[in-house]
Amino acid sequence: MTSAYLAPVQGWYAEHARDLPWRNPAATPWSVLVSEVMLQQTPVSRVLPAHAAWLARWPEPAALAAATPADAVRQWDRLGYPRRAVRLHASSELIASHHGGEVPASVDDLRQLPGIGSYTAAAVASFAFGRRHAVLDVNVRRVLARLVTGQALPRPAQSAAEVALAESLLPADGREAARWSVGVMELGALVCTAKRPACSSCPLSSQCAWLRLGRPAAPPGRPAPGYQGSDRQCRGALLAVLRSAQGPVPADVLTPTWADSGQRARSLAALIADGLVTRCADGSLALPGDAG
Ligand code: ADE
Repeated sequence: MTSAYLAPVQGWYAEHARDLPWRNPAATPWSVLVSEVMLQQTPVSRVLPAHAAWLARWPEPAALAAATPADAVRQWDRLGYPRRAVRLHASSELIASHHGGEVPASVDDLRQLPGIGSYTAAAVASFAFGRRHAVLDVNVRRVLARLVTGQALPRPAQSAAEVALAESLLPADGREAARWSVGVMELGALVCTAKRPACSSCPLSSQCAWLRLGRPAAPPGRPAPGYQGSDRQCRGALLAVLRSAQGPVPADVLTPTWADSGQRARSLAALIADGLVTRCADGSLALPGDAG
Protein backbone atom coordinates (compact mmCIF):
# COMPACT_ATOMS: atom_id res chain seq x y z
CA MET A 1 0.00 0.00 0.00
CA THR A 2 1.30 3.47 -0.86
CA SER A 3 1.59 5.68 2.22
CA ALA A 4 -0.13 9.09 2.26
CA TYR A 5 3.28 10.60 2.97
CA LEU A 6 4.84 9.58 -0.33
CA ALA A 7 3.37 12.07 -2.82
CA PRO A 8 3.92 15.21 -0.67
CA VAL A 9 7.56 14.22 -0.03
CA GLN A 10 8.21 13.46 -3.71
CA GLY A 11 6.68 16.78 -4.77
CA TRP A 12 8.66 18.74 -2.19
CA TYR A 13 11.91 16.93 -3.09
CA ALA A 14 11.50 17.66 -6.80
CA GLU A 15 11.28 21.36 -6.02
CA HIS A 16 13.63 21.87 -3.09
CA ALA A 17 16.32 19.18 -2.94
CA ARG A 18 19.96 20.17 -3.20
CA ASP A 19 21.73 19.09 -6.35
CA LEU A 20 24.47 16.92 -4.83
CA PRO A 21 26.88 14.97 -7.06
CA TRP A 22 26.27 11.59 -5.44
CA ARG A 23 22.54 11.98 -6.11
CA ASN A 24 23.10 12.44 -9.84
CA PRO A 25 21.60 9.43 -11.67
CA ALA A 26 24.97 9.08 -13.44
CA ALA A 27 26.89 8.79 -10.13
CA THR A 28 28.81 5.51 -9.91
CA PRO A 29 28.35 3.11 -6.97
CA TRP A 30 31.92 4.02 -5.93
CA SER A 31 31.00 7.72 -5.84
CA VAL A 32 27.95 6.86 -3.71
CA LEU A 33 30.01 4.66 -1.36
CA VAL A 34 32.69 7.32 -0.87
CA SER A 35 30.03 9.97 -0.23
CA GLU A 36 28.24 7.88 2.37
CA VAL A 37 31.46 7.13 4.25
CA MET A 38 32.40 10.82 4.23
CA LEU A 39 28.89 11.92 5.25
CA GLN A 40 28.83 9.54 8.24
CA GLN A 41 30.37 12.20 10.48
CA THR A 42 30.99 15.27 8.32
CA PRO A 43 28.52 17.91 7.03
CA VAL A 44 27.62 18.10 3.33
CA SER A 45 29.36 21.48 2.83
CA ARG A 46 32.74 20.03 3.86
CA VAL A 47 32.20 16.72 2.08
CA LEU A 48 31.52 18.34 -1.33
CA PRO A 49 35.12 19.45 -2.14
CA ALA A 50 36.68 16.41 -0.45
CA HIS A 51 34.45 14.02 -2.39
CA ALA A 52 35.28 15.72 -5.71
CA ALA A 53 39.02 15.61 -5.00
CA TRP A 54 38.88 11.96 -3.90
CA LEU A 55 36.97 10.86 -7.01
CA ALA A 56 39.28 12.88 -9.28
CA ARG A 57 42.32 11.13 -7.78
CA TRP A 58 40.80 7.66 -7.39
CA PRO A 59 37.88 7.37 -9.85
CA GLU A 60 37.45 3.68 -9.09
CA PRO A 61 38.18 1.32 -6.20
CA ALA A 62 41.19 -0.29 -7.94
CA ALA A 63 42.93 3.08 -8.20
CA LEU A 64 42.67 3.62 -4.45
CA ALA A 65 43.73 0.02 -3.79
CA ALA A 66 46.95 0.73 -5.72
CA ALA A 67 47.75 3.65 -3.37
CA THR A 68 48.94 3.34 0.25
CA PRO A 69 46.86 3.89 3.38
CA ALA A 70 49.15 6.87 4.05
CA ASP A 71 48.04 8.42 0.74
CA ALA A 72 44.42 7.93 1.81
CA VAL A 73 44.99 9.52 5.23
CA ARG A 74 46.71 12.53 3.64
CA GLN A 75 43.96 12.94 1.06
CA TRP A 76 41.35 12.68 3.84
CA ASP A 77 42.90 15.86 5.16
CA ARG A 78 40.69 17.53 7.74
CA LEU A 79 37.38 15.72 7.33
CA GLY A 80 37.74 14.29 10.86
CA TYR A 81 37.56 10.73 12.15
CA PRO A 82 40.43 9.69 9.82
CA ARG A 83 40.04 5.99 10.63
CA ARG A 84 37.44 6.20 7.89
CA ALA A 85 40.23 6.82 5.34
CA VAL A 86 42.14 3.70 6.38
CA ARG A 87 38.97 1.62 6.27
CA LEU A 88 37.95 3.01 2.89
CA HIS A 89 41.38 2.05 1.59
CA ALA A 90 40.99 -1.46 3.04
CA SER A 91 37.52 -1.66 1.47
CA SER A 92 38.96 -0.73 -1.93
CA GLU A 93 41.47 -3.58 -1.62
CA LEU A 94 38.69 -6.04 -0.83
CA ILE A 95 36.56 -4.72 -3.70
CA ALA A 96 39.52 -5.12 -6.06
CA SER A 97 40.45 -8.61 -4.84
CA HIS A 98 37.03 -10.17 -4.15
CA HIS A 99 34.49 -8.30 -6.26
CA GLY A 100 36.29 -7.82 -9.59
CA GLY A 101 36.81 -4.13 -8.84
CA GLU A 102 33.05 -3.41 -8.67
CA VAL A 103 31.31 -2.17 -5.52
CA PRO A 104 29.01 -5.03 -4.48
CA ALA A 105 25.24 -4.43 -4.59
CA SER A 106 23.97 -6.59 -1.73
CA VAL A 107 23.84 -5.39 1.87
CA ASP A 108 25.43 -8.67 3.00
CA ASP A 109 28.49 -8.12 0.78
CA LEU A 110 28.64 -4.43 1.65
CA ARG A 111 28.55 -5.21 5.37
CA GLN A 112 31.72 -7.30 4.93
CA LEU A 113 33.67 -4.20 3.90
CA PRO A 114 35.67 -2.44 6.65
CA GLY A 115 33.88 0.61 8.06
CA ILE A 116 30.55 -0.22 6.39
CA GLY A 117 27.84 -0.61 9.03
CA SER A 118 24.18 -1.35 8.54
CA TYR A 119 23.28 2.27 7.73
CA THR A 120 25.96 2.71 5.05
CA ALA A 121 25.31 -0.73 3.53
CA ALA A 122 21.58 0.04 3.20
CA ALA A 123 22.29 3.52 1.81
CA VAL A 124 24.66 2.21 -0.89
CA ALA A 125 22.44 -0.75 -1.82
CA SER A 126 19.45 1.58 -2.09
CA PHE A 127 20.90 4.76 -3.63
CA ALA A 128 23.45 3.12 -5.95
CA PHE A 129 21.60 -0.06 -6.92
CA GLY A 130 17.89 0.54 -6.27
CA ARG A 131 17.68 -2.32 -3.77
CA ARG A 132 14.69 -1.97 -1.43
CA HIS A 133 16.03 -1.24 2.06
CA ALA A 134 15.07 1.19 4.80
CA VAL A 135 17.78 3.87 5.06
CA LEU A 136 17.70 5.21 8.59
CA ASP A 137 20.12 8.04 9.27
CA VAL A 138 19.72 10.61 12.01
CA ASN A 139 17.58 12.88 9.80
CA VAL A 140 15.22 10.12 8.69
CA ARG A 141 14.87 8.89 12.27
CA ARG A 142 13.91 12.38 13.48
CA VAL A 143 11.34 12.94 10.71
CA LEU A 144 9.66 9.58 11.36
CA ALA A 145 9.73 10.08 15.14
CA ARG A 146 7.90 13.39 14.77
CA LEU A 147 5.60 12.44 11.93
CA VAL A 148 4.38 9.08 13.21
CA THR A 149 5.06 8.77 16.94
CA GLY A 150 4.86 12.46 17.93
CA GLN A 151 8.26 12.57 19.68
CA ALA A 152 10.49 15.62 19.26
CA LEU A 153 13.62 13.48 18.83
CA PRO A 154 14.32 9.75 18.47
CA ARG A 155 16.04 7.89 21.30
CA PRO A 156 19.85 7.75 21.08
CA ALA A 157 19.86 4.03 20.17
CA GLN A 158 17.95 2.85 17.12
CA SER A 159 15.23 0.31 17.95
CA ALA A 160 13.78 -2.64 16.03
CA ALA A 161 10.43 -0.83 16.09
CA GLU A 162 11.91 2.11 14.18
CA VAL A 163 13.31 -0.21 11.51
CA ALA A 164 9.93 -1.97 11.22
CA LEU A 165 8.15 1.38 10.91
CA ALA A 166 10.58 2.60 8.23
CA GLU A 167 10.22 -0.65 6.30
CA SER A 168 6.43 -0.45 6.46
CA LEU A 169 6.55 2.97 4.77
CA LEU A 170 8.83 1.92 1.88
CA PRO A 171 7.29 1.92 -1.61
CA ALA A 172 7.27 -1.53 -3.22
CA ASP A 173 9.65 -0.62 -6.03
CA GLY A 174 13.32 -0.37 -5.08
CA ARG A 175 14.11 2.79 -7.10
CA GLU A 176 11.02 4.50 -5.77
CA ALA A 177 11.96 3.41 -2.23
CA ALA A 178 15.36 5.05 -2.75
CA ARG A 179 13.73 8.32 -3.87
CA TRP A 180 11.44 8.20 -0.83
CA SER A 181 14.37 7.64 1.55
CA VAL A 182 16.49 10.43 0.13
CA GLY A 183 13.43 12.71 0.14
CA VAL A 184 12.78 12.09 3.85
CA MET A 185 16.50 12.52 4.55
CA GLU A 186 16.52 15.87 2.75
CA LEU A 187 13.36 16.98 4.53
CA GLY A 188 15.10 16.25 7.84
CA ALA A 189 18.23 18.14 6.75
CA LEU A 190 16.48 21.25 5.41
CA VAL A 191 13.04 21.58 7.08
CA CYS A 192 12.48 19.15 9.97
CA THR A 193 15.76 20.10 11.64
CA ALA A 194 16.65 19.19 15.19
CA LYS A 195 16.74 22.70 16.63
CA ARG A 196 14.60 24.92 14.39
CA PRO A 197 12.02 22.93 12.44
CA ALA A 198 10.27 25.02 9.76
CA CYS A 199 6.87 23.40 10.10
CA SER A 200 5.15 26.09 8.01
CA SER A 201 7.25 24.98 5.00
CA CYS A 202 6.76 21.25 5.59
CA PRO A 203 4.82 19.19 3.03
CA LEU A 204 3.77 16.79 5.82
CA SER A 205 2.55 19.38 8.34
CA SER A 206 -1.12 18.39 8.02
CA GLN A 207 -0.20 14.77 8.82
CA CYS A 208 2.40 15.29 11.55
CA ALA A 209 1.68 13.77 14.97
CA TRP A 210 4.24 15.99 16.73
CA LEU A 211 2.74 19.20 15.31
CA ARG A 212 -0.77 18.01 16.20
CA LEU A 213 0.40 17.49 19.80
CA GLY A 214 1.71 21.06 19.99
CA ARG A 215 5.40 20.20 19.38
CA PRO A 216 6.20 18.78 22.85
CA ALA A 217 9.85 19.24 23.90
CA ALA A 218 12.32 16.36 24.00
CA PRO A 219 13.32 15.02 27.44
CA PRO A 220 16.70 16.51 28.47
CA GLY A 221 19.63 14.50 27.10
CA ARG A 222 23.29 14.33 27.90
CA PRO A 223 25.42 17.22 26.62
CA ALA A 224 27.67 16.29 23.69
CA PRO A 225 31.30 15.72 24.73
CA GLY A 226 33.54 18.76 24.13
CA TYR A 227 36.39 18.75 21.57
CA GLN A 228 38.81 21.18 23.22
CA GLY A 229 41.36 19.22 25.25
CA SER A 230 39.80 15.88 24.29
CA ASP A 231 41.65 12.72 23.23
CA ARG A 232 40.11 13.30 19.81
CA GLN A 233 41.80 16.68 19.54
CA CYS A 234 45.08 15.17 20.74
CA ARG A 235 44.92 12.36 18.18
CA GLY A 236 44.24 14.91 15.44
CA ALA A 237 47.27 16.99 16.46
CA LEU A 238 49.59 13.95 16.51
CA LEU A 239 48.30 12.72 13.17
CA ALA A 240 48.80 16.16 11.60
CA VAL A 241 52.54 15.92 12.38
CA LEU A 242 52.84 12.51 10.70
CA ARG A 243 50.73 13.64 7.77
CA SER A 244 53.04 16.52 7.00
CA ALA A 245 56.19 14.42 7.46
CA GLN A 246 57.22 12.60 4.29
CA GLY A 247 58.25 9.40 6.08
CA PRO A 248 58.98 7.95 9.53
CA VAL A 249 59.80 10.41 12.32
CA PRO A 250 61.51 9.73 15.69
CA ALA A 251 58.89 9.28 18.43
CA ASP A 252 60.12 12.25 20.46
CA VAL A 253 59.21 14.60 17.59
CA LEU A 254 55.67 14.34 18.95
CA THR A 255 56.62 15.47 22.48
CA PRO A 256 56.09 19.22 21.93
CA THR A 257 52.83 18.59 20.04
CA TRP A 258 50.79 17.87 23.18
CA ALA A 259 51.83 18.88 26.69
CA ASP A 260 49.97 16.21 28.71
CA SER A 261 52.28 13.20 28.33
CA GLY A 262 49.73 10.68 29.65
CA GLN A 263 47.09 11.84 27.22
CA ARG A 264 49.69 11.93 24.43
CA ALA A 265 50.73 8.33 25.07
CA ARG A 266 47.12 7.14 25.33
CA SER A 267 46.17 8.90 22.10
CA LEU A 268 49.20 7.57 20.23
CA ALA A 269 48.37 4.05 21.41
CA ALA A 270 44.81 4.51 20.10
CA LEU A 271 46.09 5.71 16.71
CA ILE A 272 48.33 2.63 16.48
CA ALA A 273 45.52 0.30 17.56
CA ASP A 274 43.23 1.84 14.92
CA GLY A 275 45.79 1.24 12.15
CA LEU A 276 46.31 4.97 11.53
CA VAL A 277 49.93 4.98 12.71
CA THR A 278 52.67 2.35 12.45
CA ARG A 279 55.55 1.98 14.89
CA CYS A 280 58.66 0.94 12.92
CA ALA A 281 61.25 -1.56 14.19
CA ASP A 282 63.58 1.30 15.25
CA GLY A 283 60.79 2.93 17.30
CA SER A 284 60.06 5.70 14.80
CA LEU A 285 56.47 6.49 13.79
CA ALA A 286 54.82 6.77 10.37
CA LEU A 287 51.53 6.66 8.57
CA PRO A 288 50.81 3.08 7.41
CA GLY A 289 52.53 2.54 4.08
CA ASP A 290 55.04 5.32 4.79
CA ALA A 291 57.21 3.11 7.01
CA GLY A 292 60.60 2.49 5.44
N1 ADE B 1 22.17 11.99 -0.09
C1 ADE B 1 22.36 10.67 -0.11
N2 ADE B 1 22.90 10.24 1.05
C2 ADE B 1 23.06 11.34 1.81
C3 ADE B 1 23.55 11.56 3.09
N3 ADE B 1 24.04 10.57 3.82
N4 ADE B 1 23.53 12.80 3.56
C4 ADE B 1 23.08 13.81 2.80
N5 ADE B 1 22.60 13.67 1.59
C5 ADE B 1 22.58 12.44 1.09
